[in-house]
Amino acid sequence: MTAVDGSTVRTERRFAGQITATGTPARIDRSELASLQVRCMECGTVSPGDQPISLCPVCGGLLDAMIDTTTPITPATFGQGLPPHLARSGVWRYRALLPAIPEAAIVTRGEGNTPFYVDDRLAAFAGLRAGSFGVKHEGHNPTGSFKDRGMTVGVSHAVAVGARIVACASTGNTSASLASYAAAAGIPAMVLIPQGKISGGKLAQTIAYGARVVQIEGDFDIALRLLRELTSSHDVYLTNSVNPFRPEGQKTIMLELFEQLGWDVPDVITVPGGNLGNTAAFGKAIDEAYAVGLIARKPRLITVQAAGASPFARYFASGWTTYEPMHAETVATAIKIGDPVSTPRARRTIEQTNGYVTMVTDEEILDAKALIDQVGIGCEPASAASLAGARKLVAEGVIGPDESVVGILTGMVLKDTDAIMAYHMGDRPDGHRHALANRPVRVDATLDALARLLDTVIDAGPVAGEPDRPAGIA
Ligand code: F0G
Repeated sequence: MTAVDGSTVRTERRFAGQITATGTPARIDRSELASLQVRCMECGTVSPGDQPISLCPVCGGLLDAMIDTTTPITPATFGQGLPPHLARSGVWRYRALLPAIPEAAIVTRGEGNTPFYVDDRLAAFAGLRAGSFGVKHEGHNPTGSFKDRGMTVGVSHAVAVGARIVACASTGNTSASLASYAAAAGIPAMVLIPQGKISGGKLAQTIAYGARVVQIEGDFDIALRLLRELTSSHDVYLTNSVNPFRPEGQKTIMLELFEQLGWDVPDVITVPGGNLGNTAAFGKAIDEAYAVGLIARKPRLITVQAAGASPFARYFASGWTTYEPMHAETVATAIKIGDPVSTPRARRTIEQTNGYVTMVTDEEILDAKALIDQVGIGCEPASAASLAGARKLVAEGVIGPDESVVGILTGMVLKDTDAIMAYHMGDRPDGHRHALANRPVRVDATLDALARLLDTVIDAGPVAGEPDRPAGIA
């Protein structure tokens, strides 16, 4: 194009093909959404997915997004035929196993592509063989938790159906993630959080990304119940994991893990359980990957809850006969949930994978976290339930000492700095130091004082606490 002064005006986008936000949500014709369908897990009714929908309109049951698994899929399929920014997303590259949301509606921040770390100190702590315990670190996502994988699909669906506002209730990570993706999409976001009960870092993140933060006098379960009432009576798009599209993104944690392992699955996968969206999504991913021939066997899925927020573990222990919501209390605020909304879907996962559910104490979570941190990986408290649970179940004989185990780390180390400082600077309730406490020391500002300290640092070794602690924490 030529401007009035005769110069050439560039009309093409210089950074075409890169992760791009325009601040204005795309407009999608409803006819483009015809292949989106959801099915009720209770009564089997199939409903159109071209609108906001969270529960079965016939019986009120939980919904699954429908994915075609009748045609075999090979690993080479993934990433093929996609624009570069989607081929590089650790979620959208698995589009062959995701709902067919139109490309123009997709809001991505380049999520996924998270590392898999094998550390023999963690294996020793769990009671497993060297080389047989690894962690998939979902803290390496744009907002520092696995929620981004779900949110890219949830917010893209919200854009596709023309939502005017997106909302969630949250213990902190969902809210931070929604705030970021809604900002990228150019849609207002409202988040309900239990006042005073989420970490300062997550609250700050959510405020910073520009969501409207509503503090509720009550816990997470109350906030979610209230929001579900609002979204069923008002035109508000719900992005909690009860939404059938969000778990679709979280399925890719499994797909990416299996791909990293050359489609040779581990024996066991352990995951922290709160609202049980991940447990539900992982089971669906395992089931679909098996159905299309990507994996030859199914790993056992083990959900680990905090003892003070363990309704699912108690339900499992009752032989699925008694489910009782509880008032939740745990230091792992991310999973402080007493009435998990995805319970029926999560039960299906445990049944279909011959899985297991257990609970661990706050002290077990904190010691496991301190070790994950001190080997240089780092995670937030809730994430460490995956290692604490593996250790407990190896000791109980539920996991064999020769099995291969992958723990899912759900959030990054800076998500909850208060918990870090309380562990290392404070004492346990019984007045003793925490097992791996690493207290900063003060010295005079002299070379002599520093030099005297040097030997004690070298003697202590690379991991603070007593040298034999990693395998020997009581
Ligand atoms: N780990 C972290 C770090 C979380 O933030 C959550 C959930 C979980 C584990 C549990 O996952 O709900 O799929 O069983 N956080 C939600 C939130 C509830 O609002 O951020 P789940």
